[in-house]
Amino acid sequence: MKAMMIAAVMAAGVLAAGSANASEALAKSSGCLTCHAVDTKKMGPAFKETAKKYKGNAAAEGKLVEALSKAQGHPEVKAKGDDLKTLVKWVLSL
Ligand code: HEC
Repeated sequence: MKAMMIAAVMAAGVLAAGSANASEALAKSSGCLTCHAVDTKKMGPAFKETAKKYKGNAAAEGKLVEALSKAQGHPEVKAKGDDLKTLVKWVLSL
């Protein structure tokens, strides 16, 4: 039983890491990483800083998706729809 629990936890960890990598690849292919990095400030803020800024703000995801999709206060981006949602979720999860 215990071994199964450990296996389940480990599998969940692998899955979470896998989806984070997929999101990072999406960020790269969408051009986000031209102006952003996870840990450091480039032209735009470090995504970890953005996650910190909006921590505990339940409205952040919707607000950011809207701002990015309409290019309000942000340069125009090519990601849209579900991709944009995935990216914003990923940024806020960092
Ligand atoms: C041309 C450069 C550029 C590209 C490409 C870019 N960003 Fe940004 N981003 C910025 C700048 C500059 C800011 C800071 C804007 C500000 O402070 O108002 C920013 C801010 C942000 C913020 C924080 C907004 C806030 O309210 O704190 C998020 C989230 C974000 N970008 C996500 C993305 C995502 C996701 C992509 C890819 C789909 C992306 N950015 C692509 C330049 C860029």
